[in-house]
Amino acid sequence: MRLRNIPRAEGVLEAHDKVIKNEKELKGRWREVFGNDNPVYIEIGMGKGQFLTEMAARHPERNYIGIERYSSVLLRAVERLDKLEEDRGGRTLGNIRFICMDAAQIAEVFGKGEVQGIYLNFSDPWPKKRHARRRLTSRGFFARYDQVLAPDGQVEFKTDNRDLFRFSLEEAEEAGWRVLMSTWDLHGDPDMNRGNVMTEYEEKFSAKGNPICKLTAGR
Ligand SMILES: C[S@@+](CC[C@H](N)C(=O)[O-])C[C@H]1O[C@@H](n2cnc3c(N)ncnc32)[C@H](O)[C@@H]1O
Repeated sequence: MRLRNIPRAEGVLEAHDKVIKNEKELKGRWREVFGNDNPVYIEIGMGKGQFLTEMAARHPERNYIGIERYSSVLLRAVERLDKLEEDRGGRTLGNIRFICMDAAQIAEVFGKGEVQGIYLNFSDPWPKKRHARRRLTSRGFFARYDQVLAPDGQVEFKTDNRDLFRFSLEEAEEAGWRVLMSTWDLHGDPDMNRGNVMTEYEEKFSAKGNPICKLTAGR
């Protein structure tokens, strides 16, 4: 997802209290940001934030951090959160933060075991073979997740792209991870679909009739 450049995005994000600006200084200290010991879950490639804001509203006992590379896209997520809080009569969500960064750097931002769960939703497929290393489910990214994820932590990945899903199942195993659960039709699988929160892309592609694939992996 790449929106046209929005000149005001940088200024809005800079001024917004839920957008973290000094993320590398916070490595190993995220509990200070939230002011509690609740587990931290991150979504990488959050897009406009539909999934993350809904998860944060449903689970006040967890902390959520959304990571998005483009400021123009992150702006939409921040605006969504502002609107949600307005609709809640000004009751803010204390358990959500955002970072504008490339996920390749996550080991510089989170300490060992500091993250309890990683969500990857409808990650860019990078269909050309020579770009495979950019896929967020490539073995290089699993190695990065290994550095920040708690020992019992899990990666959850959803996509409608069956080639990317096949690749991801293989890469998880190649990286030495265990695929704990997987389905090629999430919405047709009552067990795996229980409590599912739809992302923006998930709504769009399932409305077109595309089955949604999901895997959960741990070490
Ligand atoms: C196809 S969109 C999916 C958005 C959302 N997760 C959903 O399911 O509706 C993928 C998003 O991931 C972001 N992204 C891709 N690679 C990234 C990276 N290396 N670091 C941070 N964000 C990334 C893109 O900018 C884009 O907004």
